[in-house]
Amino acid sequence: MKTSSQFSLRPYNTFGIEAKARHFIAFSSLEQLQEALEAYPREPLLILGGGSNILLTGDFNGLVIKNELKGIELVREDAGYYYVRTQAGENWHGFVQYCIQHQYAGVENLSLIPGNVGASPMQNIGAYGVEIKDVFHELEAWHIHEKKRYRFSVADCCFGYRESVFKKSLKGQFIILNVTFRLNKQPVFHTSYGAMENELEKMQLKELSIQAISEAVIRIRSSKLPDPAAIGNAGSFFKNPVIPSEQYKHLLQQYPQMPGFAMDGSHTKIPAGWLIENTGWKGYREGDAGCYPKQALVLVNYGQATGHDIFHLSEKIISSIREKFGITLEREVNVI
Ligand code: FAD
Ligand code: EPU
Repeated sequence: MKTSSQFSLRPYNTFGIEAKARHFIAFSSLEQLQEALEAYPREPLLILGGGSNILLTGDFNGLVIKNELKGIELVREDAGYYYVRTQAGENWHGFVQYCIQHQYAGVENLSLIPGNVGASPMQNIGAYGVEIKDVFHELEAWHIHEKKRYRFSVADCCFGYRESVFKKSLKGQFIILNVTFRLNKQPVFHTSYGAMENELEKMQLKELSIQAISEAVIRIRSSKLPDPAAIGNAGSFFKNPVIPSEQYKHLLQQYPQMPGFAMDGSHTKIPAGWLIENTGWKGYREGDAGCYPKQALVLVNYGQATGHDIFHLSEKIISSIREKFGITLEREVNVI
């Protein structure tokens, strides 16, 4: 285990923001994790996966620990499912590809999401009609202060839209060590989301398969989301707001084109990308901070933007949308 001081985090966050960690340690075993925590017991702590959902707004004056626990293992199967335990430091898309190769169905719609398996339950990652709560069996996490391993079931995680107990009441208390997924032996295809049907049609398939769904998702994502290797970003910067349906009906009178998706009898989800585009921000650039021209929900770093520049832009977007539509956007990205 190697400790580095005043360590540049630029290669470790997909926004490509320059910020230094006072101490940085990568761990690949539970023993190394314990050693790292014992070496700096009083330092503020940041657990890092792939750095694809954080915005660093300054140097981190504490200990950054990077989770590099590796391994994917089939732990059990029954008539309907495979139970696959995956260590937190595995790359998410690598895990999805592994599942497709082995014909483990359920995560194909979540292809090409950056980051690591350990962060996937944090915000219950989701895309194209599937969230990890749909395939989640359990996880093991390390309690930082009690120095004890705990097991969490799907109910314990309190998953919601881009939410879990780890972002709320248990924030900052646990390090996720591994996640066990419950994957279907017989695939159930989710093809109704937005552009999926269209993309699958274009592919002129003889037969639908999890491989084909993954391919369609990859094509759609690549056409509108910036590749962090080329342009710094953390995916959707904001969550899609969920508002009372009464408020939505009211807004429709003034903005008849505003899209909305009924959540339950009384709430409607509005695409934040539409609100941002219709407030004139799409393609806007201020120095090296900008709003991506192909997907307004994504804020980008064209090179030398600071975390503060991006944060400042996000503040301006939030207040203009509040003013115009009376809706307050919430950030999805974890601001550090
Ligand atoms: P990090 O950014 O490293 O960490 C995120 C948070 O989790 C931090 O608070 C961190 O402290 C905490 N954390 C990380 N690992 C652990 C651990 N082992 N234990 C405890 N806490 C931990 N997300 C979606 O849901 N759907 C999408 O479609 C999607 N598309 C994206 C597209 C692009 C181009 C990008 C850049 C991002 C996208 N994201 C999407 C966001 C991001 O990929 C996910 O949130 C991903 O799960 C973050 O993983 P990470 O390992 O990079 O987490
Ligand atoms: N839209 C616009 N202008 C834009 C972008 C979007 O008007 O510039 C409107 C359109 O009406 C479009 C709708 O928003 O039909 C939805 O757009 P899209 O399908 O691109 O999805 P999204 O709501 O912007 C969400 C997730 C993504 C996920 C996709 C696909 C959130 C915050 N974002 O984006 O997740 O990949 O759906 O399921 O829920 C992420 O979390 O980082 C992320 C990328």
